[in-house]
Amino acid sequence: MPAVSALPSDRPRVLSGVQPTGSLHLGNWLGAIRNWVDLQTSHDTYFCVVDLHAITVPHDPGRLAEDTLSTAALYLACGIDPERSTVFVQSHVSAHSELCWLLNCVTPLNWLERMIQFKEKALRQGADVSAGLLDYPVLMAADILLYDADRVPVGEDQKQHLELARDIAQQRINARFGSKDAEGELIPILKVPEPLILREGARVMSLSDGRSKMSKSDPNEGSRINLLDPPELISRKIKRAKTDPQMGLEFGNAERPEADNLLGLYALLAGRSREAVAAECAAMGWGAFKPLLAEAAVAALSPLQERYRDLRSDPLYLQSVLRQGRDRASEVAAATLARVRQSLGFLAIP
Ligand code: TRP
Repeated sequence: MPAVSALPSDRPRVLSGVQPTGSLHLGNWLGAIRNWVDLQTSHDTYFCVVDLHAITVPHDPGRLAEDTLSTAALYLACGIDPERSTVFVQSHVSAHSELCWLLNCVTPLNWLERMIQFKEKALRQGADVSAGLLDYPVLMAADILLYDADRVPVGEDQKQHLELARDIAQQRINARFGSKDAEGELIPILKVPEPLILREGARVMSLSDGRSKMSKSDPNEGSRINLLDPPELISRKIKRAKTDPQMGLEFGNAERPEADNLLGLYALLAGRSREAVAAECAAMGWGAFKPLLAEAAVAALSPLQERYRDLRSDPLYLQSVLRQGRDRASEVAAATLARVRQSLGFLAIP
């Protein structure tokens, strides 16, 4: 095991994470993780598997560890490089839970009650909604704020949560508990993160409804392509994907969200420009297009699946990556937590 090495930190820092619930799908890859891979060259990158978030809804304890490990392996299979990025499991760094508690005590309840995702998830869940589900965005704020992240890559659905993290840092911690320097300038305790808006065209929609996002929580398996789906299953899902009665694929027709989505997917998976695929498929029927799309999906995913299998065949390597990630992350997180504890006035003993 190499010693914990310090990563160069003059670059802006980025933190992001995905929950280890179910398998990662094309939306997670094309919409998020693929961008993380690129960020590694320009940013100081932290990527965690947010297992504490995964238990905010009822979960299967028999699957949590395996799902956490497979999610981490998929990060690496997608091109996250543990030599350049800190890859870790959220629950392995207890500072996340601890900072979450401290932030809980300064976060107004009504800020949480108005979170759109909470309202939607609570509605879906009916009677048995946990306090953890309401608290989900505060835990996410802790994830981000612990690492002094400059930027957080988020999709549309997480913008409100990032806004909340900013408000907690700025209004509830820095403004209330920060001290002033000689000129009367506020010395911030927590860094206020900026959103990092992801590149255009990376929003992948469901295969069964071009108007809703591809999602792990959709009960219809056919609505998404998982990164580990075997080729036959990928073809079958694409064959059954929703279409419309019109000939020819096109972008930007609001009446044809499925055409827009699948053509966009084709461009991303084949690594070609939107103009090129729009020209190629302008006069093509769905029957000719779908096998092309399936072929592009299988070709794009098979090297990733092979890397995944290699990684899973070497559990000691994966463990060493997560151990190194935990150690690096803990060091940064402990420093932030100490700052917050001190500014909130907790007793410290040597
Ligand atoms: N809530 C995020 C999602 O569902 C996952 C997440 C948890 C996250 N903590 C984070 C994302 C911190 C970015 C930064 O997508």
